[in-house]
Amino acid sequence: MMSMRIDLPIAPDFPYGDALLTAITLARRAGDLLLSLHRQGPRRVMTKSTGVDLLTEADLASQDLILTELSRRFPEHGILAEETDGHHETANGALWLVDPLDGTTNFAHRFPVFAVSIALWVDGRPQVGVVQDVVRERTYWAAAGQGAWLADERRLQVSETSELGQSLLATGFPYRRAINTDNNLAEFNALMPATRGVRRAGSAALDMAWVADGRLDGYWEPYLAPWDWAAGILLVTEAGGMVSDYGGGPLHMGSRTVVASNGRLHDALLAAVQEARRRAGLPIML
Ligand code: IPD
Ligand code: CA
Ligand code: CA
Repeated sequence: MMSMRIDLPIAPDFPYGDALLTAITLARRAGDLLLSLHRQGPRRVMTKSTGVDLLTEADLASQDLILTELSRRFPEHGILAEETDGHHETANGALWLVDPLDGTTNFAHRFPVFAVSIALWVDGRPQVGVVQDVVRERTYWAAAGQGAWLADERRLQVSETSELGQSLLATGFPYRRAINTDNNLAEFNALMPATRGVRRAGSAALDMAWVADGRLDGYWEPYLAPWDWAAGILLVTEAGGMVSDYGGGPLHMGSRTVVASNGRLHDALLAAVQEARRRAGLPIML
């Protein structure tokens, strides 16, 4: 396991310091597990909602590792994790959101882009967000009011790009893309020629970490679940960027669309997504 640093640059009165340290430790431990499985070679693959919505033993092993420890350390908190049925929310309003392996398709094909995402939300607001870039062994974390960071190396800062024409964006396509015509191709067709490029790396959590780190200028995607973006949005906002749904409003547990950007590009990116959907006869919100 990677060594755990406890000298994180957070204010002593930040109330979720323990949660942050636990999330970083678990994201790294789960990352180590996924990396060793990745190096062992191809995995047996199961399917979920559609034939392209995959599940591997690695998703389950990573989730087991994370949830066992979260429930032991924070028995009073709720947990919403991708590979479990339902969730419980508790009276204290604290909810962990866990994607034990974000980028399962990549993992199953040994394409080296996948992540672990762990976030703690309290009373509907993100307090802690950690995204572990498994293959590059990098820990992106953010805490409310404490900034966004790459491990303990440096503070994250969004890019300064202010023109779509000079931007590099990322997006993703829903698993139901073959059977639902609302499949993000209208938006992709509008934005690809309007920018320097649009990447589809295959991990929403990493897409947002890379917006926070200024490697990408913006990101949009429909049909996401809260565990996909719960950590990423805190990374982006604490790094000086903006996150909204397709209507321009704040994200909540029911949100299914995400636009994340460096802030300067937000209106232009949002307008382009909305215009593409209007032209395609699609509703703005899902
Ligand atoms: C998926 C990835 C992908 C995104 C999908 C997500 P999963 O998560 O984040 O990049 O396009 O919408 O569902 O299924 O690999 O955890
Ligand atoms: Ca995911
Ligand atoms: Ca997942």
